[in-house]
Amino acid sequence: MQTLPSLTIGQHTATYPIVQGGMGIRVSGAGLAAAVANAGGIGVISAVGLGMNSPYFDIEEKNPKTRQTQFFRANRLALIDELRQARALSPRGLLGVNIMVAARDYETLVCTAVENGANLIFSGAGLPLTLPALTAHRPEVALVPIISSVRAAQVICKKWQRQHNRLPDAFVVENPQAAGGHLGAKAEDLGDPAIGPEAVIPALVSYLAETFDQPIPVIAAGGVCDRATLLHALGLGASGVQIGTRFIPTDECDADRHYKEFHLNADPADIVLVPSPVGLPGRALRNAFVDRVNAGEPSDPKEQCFANCLQVCKFRDRRETYCILRALDRACRGDVENGLVFAGSSVGGSDRIQPVAEVMVELVGG
Ligand SMILES: Cc1cc2nc3c(=O)[nH]c(=O)nc-3n(C[C@H](O)[C@H](O)[C@H](O)COP(=O)(O)O)c2cc1C
Repeated sequence: MQTLPSLTIGQHTATYPIVQGGMGIRVSGAGLAAAVANAGGIGVISAVGLGMNSPYFDIEEKNPKTRQTQFFRANRLALIDELRQARALSPRGLLGVNIMVAARDYETLVCTAVENGANLIFSGAGLPLTLPALTAHRPEVALVPIISSVRAAQVICKKWQRQHNRLPDAFVVENPQAAGGHLGAKAEDLGDPAIGPEAVIPALVSYLAETFDQPIPVIAAGGVCDRATLLHALGLGASGVQIGTRFIPTDECDADRHYKEFHLNADPADIVLVPSPVGLPGRALRNAFVDRVNAGEPSDPKEQCFANCLQVCKFRDRRETYCILRALDRACRGDVENGLVFAGSSVGGSDRIQPVAEVMVELVGG
């Protein structure tokens, strides 16, 4: 059986070329990230909306200004808690934090992550052009933009080099045709082979190898769920893979048991696209909530924007779609019919809720 290579990103080397994708809200917290790190991969905490379900935030606070200030403070404090807990569970493992550029508290969360022991920062949902400046005092923290096109990688490399004299330590290439969560392509473009991994990964690997002296590994995300799909991604030239969906039905995943069971009992026929308030489609499991959204039903009039959490939000500005924080939070707390359950197209790859260590053994070969 083919032995898998290790994965070096900046100053950090993981035994296996497996990154666990950051999954919000609280689907990948300290529990899942530490378990993947302990099994030789890179564990990633998703920073998005951690304050929601934390002791630091009361959604019932009446004063909107106070509520918003409290929310951003709660996100920061909850991220510190999560990193401390993950480090206690995995003293020597590689731990990353996934922070969306689209979050209004992006800068605070990046600074919080690097000050509290994150080894790597993964950053997408926008171009992370300020990331090197925010982390300049911690050069040991590896910086990994998440992109879906070679063009985006080129823009990032050129701007980082010119403005910060630094290059990314790796790129995650998110395949919009298979990945769970927000997609970096419009729904009508999803059938285009030019945006698939067979086109993008070899082209990005060649561009990076031909343009720069230092190695910049490419990590393939989306649709990797077993050893065969992992080896396929490595065969395209990727140095590693990022996996989200396959890690959800695990003992250590931080979501409610009902969320994990909903994933466990789903199969690819249950996957649908759903519009999101940020403007791009998301890939999710079909449920009553998604059916309502896709039917264009207006959201509950009692639901108001409570935290002004995103740079761009159709719900806040025009009451279109829905409040994504509430929808993700409801789901991960177990209300799987009235919440948004993101999932990749490879859902259904597990036959029971397993320990992460077992999933890792299946992926890397026993
Ligand atoms: C439930 C769920 C939540 C996600 N949340 C985020 C997130 O907060 N930030 C992000 O960059 N990617 C997010 N993703 C994408 C994952 O990090 C990962 O790249 C993707 O799931 C890979 O595809 P796969 O699910 O087919 O393995 C999410 C995916 C899922 C399934």
